Amino acid sequence: MSKKISLIGAGQIGGTLAHLIALKGLADDIVLFDLAVGLAKGKALDIAQSSGVSGFNTNLKGTNNYKDIKDSDVIIITAGVPRKPGMTRDDLLGTNLKIIKQVAEGIKSNASEAFVICITNPLDIIVMALQKYSGLPTQKVVGMAGILDSSRFKYFLSQKLGKPITEISSLVLGGHGDTMVPLPNHTIIDGKSLASILEEKKISDNDLKSIIQRTRKGGAEIVKLLEKGSAFYAPAASGVEMAESYLKNQKKTLPCAAYLNGEYGVKNLYAGVPVIIGEKGVEKVIELKLNKIEKDNFDVSIKAVKELFESAIKIDSSLSK
Ligand code: APR
Repeated sequence: MSKKISLIGAGQIGGTLAHLIALKGLADDIVLFDLAVGLAKGKALDIAQSSGVSGFNTNLKGTNNYKDIKDSDVIIITAGVPRKPGMTRDDLLGTNLKIIKQVAEGIKSNASEAFVICITNPLDIIVMALQKYSGLPTQKVVGMAGILDSSRFKYFLSQKLGKPITEISSLVLGGHGDTMVPLPNHTIIDGKSLASILEEKKISDNDLKSIIQRTRKGGAEIVKLLEKGSAFYAPAASGVEMAESYLKNQKKTLPCAAYLNGEYGVKNLYAGVPVIIGEKGVEKVIELKLNKIEKDNFDVSIKAVKELFESAIKIDSSLSK
């Protein structure tokens, strides 16, 4: 069966997503939607013109008409403004909330069966607003953050330990912000736990602390270097992994911003937790055993997400329903 992926937002992440999806052959049709329609059409045409070299047969279309996203299997949202140097993700709230309301209406009217992945920041709040505005089932609306944060954590560990990143598995939970929770106790390097590597003194407690801090500030480090815009290669790769697990029913366990209904003691909130993604969308939230420190850090992160959601309700009271 042919597959269609629509990308709402054809900026830095949207364009990279389209290219990666085409190169991986993940969809037969890719729609790039953007208010800046020339940008969407230009990128669609540019990527399509690379198909003769790269050897893919994907239909690419740029548009500013929501009717074109009809029958999408997957929708990935990056519409919104990115950070400027010195800004936090939370500073984007007011602007991106208004944008996500329009996007949610476009999806609700044209592609309400799709699996929707949100990347727009501040992630946990925007994905929750998207679910409320669109009325789509919670298992079909999910946010991309944990895969990116975990990948950053794994990269910094691999650099410090001189180990290939492919030999490291890890998880970062909680909100996608400065309170995110890397989990050293759920980190395996070359078959060994990070705890035992710490005991062997291959890495010091201080090294680990600074890696955790650098992971938390990983997005800001890139915003500062780029001067214009925020990270896009790693966020796009992370979104594609989620789309692929859904489309191919891979049932991978991936850290994502998912709706919590009592899991981890949290109710009626989106936050970063490991979930199984398969053909039904978010098929299961995996409840890991957290030690006291991890649990305390997770609770701090949840508190930050709740507080930001309160700010969102102050901007639009309809979100409290
Ligand atoms: N509908 C559709 N597209 C929109 C809308 C809207 N209402 N408002 C803005 N856009 C488009 C812009 O025209 C722009 O092309 O969204 C695109 C965003 O692209 P970039 O500015 O390049 O931002 P990008 O780096 O892709 O990041 C997008 O993802 O990671 C987050 O913090 C990041 O919130 C930001 C988002």
